[in-house]
Amino acid sequence: MKNIDSKTHVRGESVYLDDIPLIEGTLFACVFDSPIAYGKLRSIDTYEAENSLGVVKVIIASDLIGENQIGGVVPDEPLLADGEVHFQGMPIAIVLAESEELARKAAKKITADIEPLEPVTDPRVAAANGDLIVPPKKFIMGDCETAFAECEHVFSGLTEQNGQEHLYIETQGAYAVPTEDASIKVYSSTQGPTAVQRAVCRVTGLPMHRVEVDVQRLGGGFGGKEDQANAWASICAVGAQLTKRPVKYALHRMEDMRMTGKRHPYSSDYKIGLTKDLKIIAYEVTFYQNAGASADLSPPVLERTLFHATNSYFIPNVTATAYSCRTNLPPNTAFRGFGGPQGMFVIEAAIVHAAEKLGVSAADIQRNNLIDDGDEFPYGQKAESDAITSWTQGDAEFNFARLQKEADDFNAESKYFKKGVAMMPVCFGISFTKTPMNQARSLVHVYTDGSVAVSTGAVEMGQGVNTKIAQVAAKVFGLPIDKVKIHTTNTLRIANTSPTAASAAADLNGKATQMACETIRDRLFDVAKGLVEAEAVENLSLEDGHVYRNGDRTSLDWKTLVMDAHLQRVNLSEHAHYATPGINFDWSTAKGHPFAYHVYGTAIVGVTVDCLRGRYEVDYVKCCHDFGSSMNTAVDNGQIEGGIVQGLGWMTMEEVVYDDAGKLRSNALSTYKVPDIHSVPKEIAILPLQTNRENLAVLNSKAVGEPPLMYGMGAYFAIRNAIKAFTECSPEFDAPFTPEKVLMNLYSE
Ligand code: MTE
Ligand code: MOS
Repeated sequence: MKNIDSKTHVRGESVYLDDIPLIEGTLFACVFDSPIAYGKLRSIDTYEAENSLGVVKVIIASDLIGENQIGGVVPDEPLLADGEVHFQGMPIAIVLAESEELARKAAKKITADIEPLEPVTDPRVAAANGDLIVPPKKFIMGDCETAFAECEHVFSGLTEQNGQEHLYIETQGAYAVPTEDASIKVYSSTQGPTAVQRAVCRVTGLPMHRVEVDVQRLGGGFGGKEDQANAWASICAVGAQLTKRPVKYALHRMEDMRMTGKRHPYSSDYKIGLTKDLKIIAYEVTFYQNAGASADLSPPVLERTLFHATNSYFIPNVTATAYSCRTNLPPNTAFRGFGGPQGMFVIEAAIVHAAEKLGVSAADIQRNNLIDDGDEFPYGQKAESDAITSWTQGDAEFNFARLQKEADDFNAESKYFKKGVAMMPVCFGISFTKTPMNQARSLVHVYTDGSVAVSTGAVEMGQGVNTKIAQVAAKVFGLPIDKVKIHTTNTLRIANTSPTAASAAADLNGKATQMACETIRDRLFDVAKGLVEAEAVENLSLEDGHVYRNGDRTSLDWKTLVMDAHLQRVNLSEHAHYATPGINFDWSTAKGHPFAYHVYGTAIVGVTVDCLRGRYEVDYVKCCHDFGSSMNTAVDNGQIEGGIVQGLGWMTMEEVVYDDAGKLRSNALSTYKVPDIHSVPKEIAILPLQTNRENLAVLNSKAVGEPPLMYGMGAYFAIRNAIKAFTECSPEFDAPFTPEKVLMNLYSE
């Protein structure tokens, strides 16, 4: 079944923030942001801007009625700079004008007197200065020190990973409308309507029941709108509060790239120890996360790095330490994988390091150490593992040895083109690692004409969550999908939502929807029992718009049943609450059972490197992926393909460049290269893992949003293998592998 949005998407009729019809009197906001990365803000001169054509108001920190604070996890992020600036692009003043153009023109006339201070952009420097966002976090299992002493082979090294620009097609933005009695309605392009509501309440001083946040859909979020939508919504809300007029702000691409944070770059140290027969028995890793100027979501991202530090492997002795380092870059934030990919890259690099030194295939070490049923992750949860099955099923279908041989044969014949192949197992935990966030609600109304309206806390951002939720309701009621309408995500209909993140939106909100629909269905069965003279409600079912009795279709159709129930004064609405059972985590011991389940998969990635030019192509990504039993293969395959390409981009061509002064140099699509249609793999093969395991996913259909991104790491190591087929060298583990870096390594001798 197609995504229910596909028709309005291709007709251009889908509504995004910028498509909301404007109310008369709407003002347009534009931010004046810091031109330097770190300094003392002595004064701001807004006089000329205030007296510019069409300008209604200029707002600085001291104008705020509420608190000048939007930090969601740690209160360390002022909405507007006050006394100091902490990154290039930090908002200092807001201009409100009668048109977008006039607002932008006036913002250019603002000047600030800033005494420059020495910025820090390197996380290791920040750590050495003791400038951490939160105290270091640690996972310990077993005893590394003793284990290393017993190892036959020990290798240590360093990895660097750069960030990644989200590049959602729809830029950040919001539209705030003042409503009766000092209330505000905010339309926001956010993954977290409640996060926006809280931030808006803080900066305006309003209680939450006076702030309504509404989200139709996003043109992509990828984690970038989980907390980072708060600023723009707050800016519009403050403007609306102070002028009593609607205020809109939709960022231009370059503003968005300059002012918002990205995937966290990490610098990491590893030490890996193996026995004679290539069992990894000790692993020590230290992560330096480049958090940027304020916490944003860095602490939970850092935690997920630790959770995924051993990827799909069982290692009995692990010490993993993580530092969230404060630098003068825009606050880095959630990005598909949420720190998990950064953790996994390091163990994969360590394995490749060991394999190269020992003269074996990395795949041999990987295969030899996959986590098995009952093995314990460093955080105490016992694995119900499909790491080995996904590897074996993938290998049986795609034949790694054959693909490797094909590459070797090709390389023996070809002088200037070389092929490389790599295996990439992935294991990703599903649930917010902060247990209280694993809850969701759904509000379902059945109307007297038989149509169904559903509201949940899930935000549609292209991942197809609305389609899946509609499928759940349609399935429970035995209706065609067009009888179900999924409405906007709105804080008045669904309160206290968790953001749509952690790949868990369909599970959490789908389960709540299933519960609400089943409650209504059971009430309807009580009514139907009398109407079709069934002995018990257990004999009844709903299918293709009719009531069935003992498996036979009756003449009672859905619409008649609904109307009858209404006339009997039966409640046709339900608001259900779902909280994932059985999960917990205790940070005082750093042990628990944080995940409802894990998603496993194994990919084989093949590339061809042009060894004269340093260019490369990804020939294929073939994966065996654990969907559970997919509810919608069109949507899920789309997620896998999109995730893979985004992961390839992160690992290969996407290069975020800040100079030493903290200025973003890759600040537009001309200087920041993302995968286009020519750079997607020539083949993406997806083999669904066959397994009969039960899981906590909605209708057994496992979360799919983030895990496939990490298959993209395979391209990094495949490129490395191709380079090594051309020349003897040992490239540093420094991602992404841009064509420039490939070329330098090809000719490093
Ligand atoms: N797919 C599209 N098309 N657009 C997006 O913004 N975000 C990803 C993933 N897939 C995203 C996407 C991220 S970061 C997450 S956490 C999940 O979708 C969230 O949605 P889900 O919980 O419904 O999987
Ligand atoms: Mo996704 S990074 O959890 O929004």
